[in-house]
Amino acid sequence: MQIISKGLTFTYNRKTDFKKHALNGVDLTINEGEFFGIVGETGSGKSTFIQHLNGLIFVEGGELTVGDVNLAVKDKKEKKALKKRLKELRYKVGMVFQYPEYQLFAETVKEDVAFALKNFHPEISDEEREERVRKAIETVGLDYEQIKNKSPFELSGGQKRRVANAGILVSEPEILVLDEPVAGLDPVGKKRLMALLHTLHDMKIVKTIIIVSHDMDEISENVERVALFSGGKAVMVCTPKELFLSDHPAVKRLGLPVTAFASKKLFEKGIEIDSNFKVNDFIEKVTEKYKNL
Ligand SMILES: Nc1ncnc2c1ncn2[C@@H]1O[C@H](COP(=O)(O)OP(=O)(O)O)[C@@H](O)[C@H]1O
Ligand SMILES: [Mg+2]
Repeated sequence: MQIISKGLTFTYNRKTDFKKHALNGVDLTINEGEFFGIVGETGSGKSTFIQHLNGLIFVEGGELTVGDVNLAVKDKKEKKALKKRLKELRYKVGMVFQYPEYQLFAETVKEDVAFALKNFHPEISDEEREERVRKAIETVGLDYEQIKNKSPFELSGGQKRRVANAGILVSEPEILVLDEPVAGLDPVGKKRLMALLHTLHDMKIVKTIIIVSHDMDEISENVERVALFSGGKAVMVCTPKELFLSDHPAVKRLGLPVTAFASKKLFEKGIEIDSNFKVNDFIEKVTEKYKNL
């Protein structure tokens, strides 16, 4: 499923004196199969944009399609028709909010993970549901038998987040959208979660992954393309390398990944390293240069 946004606008509290223009014409296409990043300063519209993708926020102005679902409805009749398709859309577009562990609520891990499936697909038999819950829990790297009857609240931070992710994966979404997925995790937890996302993507368990982040190292290492949000627009859509080489003021304020920072410092000393700013590539290029000195 491809995502196409053209001139998307959105205003909070539109009819009041407190109105706030959050999106000011987002032009952005995300292709099926991409591992995509969305970056931008706080308040640039990232969260507002992604909540449009599964209809949590209705389109106010502009165009938006996700696969064959047109989310920009013109009248009441179209809105009624869209509402009927939202269930299916929410199933296909999994959304993991910031700090998903705060959304855990059930008494046991297996009930928590089963929640979406039970609600969206009550026709699925108990046996099949249990099988899918087991698969989702194993996919996120947890031991089903060991954890299934535990309370989500007795788990570590990293485990809780894995359980929350399993609760999204259980519905086998085609598109997975994660808002600041590694925020607040320790370095090991961060690495594990990103590795999990790559496994899901490489094995095509999830076709498209979209991560919202303001950690530039994470963006540099992980995504193929990135959109820079600023003032409610996607002001750049490019590779991470192009983003970090640009002199857009928002990029300056967000900072650089450590490799891009090091490249810049080396360049100032007359040493040119042309890498894509991923750590491995950077080290390889530095090593080559060093050998040739
Ligand atoms: N529920 C809300 N009510 C009013 N204004 C909001 C609400 N949510 C976000 N905003 C405003 O909309 C703008 C975009 O916010 P948001 O999409 O959350 O940005 P980001 O995720 O990039 O930090 C900000 O100015 C923010 O203050
Ligand atoms: Mg946000």
